[in-house]
Amino acid sequence: MSAVRHALVFGGSGQVGAALIARLRAAGWAVAALSRTPPPTGDDGLHWLRGEFAALPELPRACDAIFSCGPLDLFSFWYVQADIACPRVVAFGSTSMQSKHAAADPDERALAQRLRAAEARVFGAAAERGAAATLLRPTLIYGAGRDHSLSRIAALAARTGFFVLPRGTRGLRQPVHVDDLAAAALAAIECTASFGRGYALPGGETLPYREMVVRTLAALPSRPRLIELPSPLFRLALRTAHASGRLRGLPAGAVARMREDLVFDAGPARRDLGYAPRAFAPRADMFASSAP
Ligand SMILES: NC(=O)c1ccc[n+]([C@@H]2O[C@H](COP(=O)([O-])OP(=O)(O)OC[C@H]3O[C@@H](n4cnc5c(N)ncnc54)[C@H](OP(=O)(O)O)[C@@H]3O)[C@@H](O)[C@H]2O)c1
Repeated sequence: MSAVRHALVFGGSGQVGAALIARLRAAGWAVAALSRTPPPTGDDGLHWLRGEFAALPELPRACDAIFSCGPLDLFSFWYVQADIACPRVVAFGSTSMQSKHAAADPDERALAQRLRAAEARVFGAAAERGAAATLLRPTLIYGAGRDHSLSRIAALAARTGFFVLPRGTRGLRQPVHVDDLAAAALAAIECTASFGRGYALPGGETLPYREMVVRTLAALPSRPRLIELPSPLFRLALRTAHASGRLRGLPAGAVARMREDLVFDAGPARRDLGYAPRAFAPRADMFASSAP
């Protein structure tokens, strides 16, 4: 293989995938990236492939590293049978694998089970072909303005001038910036201690849900207000917002979870990958979809 290293990136158009490709290109890697809707731009060292796991285009037959930044279960099924020579695989899973395995909601338990099974398939297939896999499990992701949690809160609050929470949302959170995840994925390539291992990748600060929202609102130029309601009143407000079509897509159990701690240990990733995630100091541009 030439001196230039070649990467194949699944999910390259996603928020983590885009940050990873930027880092790979800056480090001199040639990248082939797959997405159903590739961005219109590429460069000499970045080749976009249009496709999805159900209908893949022709992929490289060999590369130095494969990165999965999209749906892990689909990637795992592809990788098990893929005809590709590659010594390293770095795939993103989720801490939901641990936090939702005993959830009350059967859909959430099923998600945790799917993630666990997908990780096992990736590790198994890598071992069978003499490759080394590393699994990375982020917590709540932000930073590229395309996440479905803080960016949604920011967009709604910017539109209405306020954001409503039930009182007592003190469950601990560890929001993690997309670029810290991209740095960890790149570090994993060189790190033999990470071969065959999975790592939680939480953000650099652990803070109550309420405080995470307060900082998000404070970062917005219009300074939307936080309104905290007693739980029965909040439930009523939520029902009204749903009925009027002003709010969609709040999953069952999401409100109860705001009071639960979702905390993971960054220690193993710090030790092996030199993982040093930033504290949660959001800026308005991190919630705009043009964020890098
Ligand atoms: N967002 C979070 O808070 C969070 C938390 C923990 C873990 N994770 C995990 O971290 C990884 C990166 O997350 P993310 O938020 O960066 O994801 P994202 O922004 O939603 O991007 C997902 C990527 O996967 C591609 N994709 C989706 N379905 C596909 C399919 N059927 N075939 C081929 N490509 C497909 C998407 O591209 P196209 O749509 O263009 O195909 C996109 O490039 C994922 O594994 C995710 O599960 C996310």
